Amino acid sequence: MKITVVGAGAVGASCAEYIAIKNFASEVVLLDIKEGYAEGKAMDLMQTASLNGFDTKITGITNDYSKTADSDICVITSGIPRKPGMTREELIGINAGIVKTVSSSLIQYSPNTIIIVVSNPMDTMTYLVHKSTNLPKHKIIGMGGALDSARFKYRLAEALGGPISDVDGMVIAGHSDTGMIPLTRLATRNGVPVSEFLSDERLKQVAEDTKVGGATLTKLLGTSAWYAPGAAVSAMAQAIACDTKKVFPCSALLEGEYGFNDICLGVPVVLGKNGIEEIIKIKLNDAEIANMKESANGVKSVNDLL
Ligand code: 2OP
Repeated sequence: MKITVVGAGAVGASCAEYIAIKNFASEVVLLDIKEGYAEGKAMDLMQTASLNGFDTKITGITNDYSKTADSDICVITSGIPRKPGMTREELIGINAGIVKTVSSSLIQYSPNTIIIVVSNPMDTMTYLVHKSTNLPKHKIIGMGGALDSARFKYRLAEALGGPISDVDGMVIAGHSDTGMIPLTRLATRNGVPVSEFLSDERLKQVAEDTKVGGATLTKLLGTSAWYAPGAAVSAMAQAIACDTKKVFPCSALLEGEYGFNDICLGVPVVLGKNGIEEIIKIKLNDAEIANMKESANGVKSVNDLL
C-alpha cells in the first residue's frame, strides 16, 4: 500500500505521522513545493520509527510527481490554511488553482488512485477534483465529516462527563462553521440516546461548539488545526487500505441521494478497498432536511465561484 500526501505543512505531516504509526501502509510519499521541506519532515518522522514501532517507509520529495507513481491513495492537503477570523470559503481564490494542478499531476502518475481531499473549502475542493479529473466518483472522497464527528464526540463526552469511547455520533452536510449538522438526535452514550442524559439546551450548546470547532482552534493556534485532521485522514485511509467497510461521514458526489445532485456534501458512506462503496441513506427529520438544504445552498454558492 503506497500513500502519497501532498503538502508537508502541519496537516500533511500529521497525516503522514498517523498513517505511519498505524503501520498499515508500506510506503508514504510526502511531497511539497518548498525545496527540502518534505525531505526534512520525512527524515524527522523516520527517526521516530524505532521509537514508535512502525515499518512504514516515509520519503520526502520536492515537487517531483514521478516519485508518487502508482500510489493507491493520494491525500491532498495543499493550499493555504485559515487565519483567525477567516472562513474556510475565503480560501477558494488561492486553493482552487493549487488543488486543480495537484490533482492533475497526481492522476498523471497514479491513474487508478483514490483521492482524499483535505484542502479548504473542502466540499468545493472535492467537487473541483471531480470536475478536473476523470476518476470514477467513488474514488474521490472529501475529509470533513470524519473530523467534525470526532470533534462532536469530544464535545459530547465533555458534556456527559464520561469517556469519548462511550460516545457515538455523526456530523453530516457541509464542512463549514454554519453548514455542518451534528446529529444530536442520533448520538448515543453506550447505545442510549444522549437526550436521556443532556437537556435540549446543553445539546444545542454541544452542536454549536462542534460547528465552530475548527474556528475555535484557529483562534487559539493562529492557524488551522492539524492533529485531528491528520488522524481523521489516517482513519479513512486505514478503512480503505484494510477494506474494513467502516462508516464515516465524508464529502461525496451526490447524484440524487438525499435529494441533491451535482454537489459534494457530507453524508455517511462505507469506506473499503474501492473508496466509497456505498452512500448510506438515513432517515432525517424535517428540521434536519431543512438544515441540509440550507447547507447545500451554501456549498453550491461557493462552487459557483469556481
Ligand atoms: C479544520 O476544520 C482544517 O478544515 C480543517 O480544522
